[in-house]
Amino acid sequence: MAIESSCDETSAAIVHNGKILNNIISTQSVHENYGGVVPELASRAHQQNIVPVVSEALKNSAINKEDLSAIAFTRGPGLMGALLVGTSFAKSMALALDIPLIEVNHMQAHILAHFIDQPKPKFPFLCLTVSGGHTQIVMVKSYLDMEIVGETKDDAVGEAFDKSAKLLGLGYPGGPMIDKYASTGDPKKYTFPSTEMPEFDYSFSGIKTAILYFLKDRLKENDNFITENLPDICASIQSTLIAMLMDKLKKAADHYKIDRIAIAGGVSANKGLRSELNRLSEKEGWTVYIPAFEYCTDNAGMIAMAAYYKFLAQEFVGQEVSALPRMKF
Ligand code: KG4
Ligand code: ZN
Repeated sequence: MAIESSCDETSAAIVHNGKILNNIISTQSVHENYGGVVPELASRAHQQNIVPVVSEALKNSAINKEDLSAIAFTRGPGLMGALLVGTSFAKSMALALDIPLIEVNHMQAHILAHFIDQPKPKFPFLCLTVSGGHTQIVMVKSYLDMEIVGETKDDAVGEAFDKSAKLLGLGYPGGPMIDKYASTGDPKKYTFPSTEMPEFDYSFSGIKTAILYFLKDRLKENDNFITENLPDICASIQSTLIAMLMDKLKKAADHYKIDRIAIAGGVSANKGLRSELNRLSEKEGWTVYIPAFEYCTDNAGMIAMAAYYKFLAQEFVGQEVSALPRMKF
């Protein structure tokens, strides 16, 4: 069984011989009123949700806790208070049942979500991992051997989506809302400058400021600018962000001469990103791997999948393990 509690989803999943039997996710709605995740409220909600979520995962799989052969948990990266809930719970359960404990890196797990369903990628492949806290281009050499070859030096692309949505009054999480409005808008209507970065790195803080000033200027001329032009604004923001992501991904693919390309993480649910990747795959001759929607955003199924490979490699940790908010690969 695997437990995920790094941000605002409390989740438990059961894996048996590499197959996910159950993936229970409880999303915390409390953050919607605040336009972002409030760490203290996230920890409290995890504390309330973890027992029901774990019980449901066991019940739905018709498995007794005594049947479990190991307990896995997200050690990091994530919010300290949130991670502590899952970490402590997993440690207690492993101790009580006298079974091994497995730590999982949340970002590696986003990538290993690709091994839940068919088709499973062949190694090596490049993965663009895009979430609310990270934006990375990762060279995936095997299940547990991965190297970050490029990443954001400031905001994550998910943050750029969420902060833009907040400026537009669309609520949290904003990525899905921008995605929705963008589908009927003109992506070329407005342009936003993107920051030049070396090699395969990204920067998304500049575009957020550009959007802020763009909106301020337009609202001075017309109070209703946002409501009258929402689809075009969303489509233009989304296409700018996607172009930035794809530019560096293509550069990395050319540099490493790799034609197997995957996307992972919450932002990989974005329809514009998925269709742009499919378009590029035809143009560049890439084989692309796009995860099922249910495994894009945070879930314990992906943690269970990563834990399965660690279980096969007998990579266990002791009771002294603690949460690691800035965990690296
Ligand atoms: O991976 P994830 O669930 O949590 C983190 O590990 O951060 O990613 C959450 C991020 C949020 O920024 C959310 O707005 C974004 O993924 N997201 C999307 C979409 N669905 C979720 N962004 C753009 N389009 C979407 N459809
Ligand atoms: Zn995530």
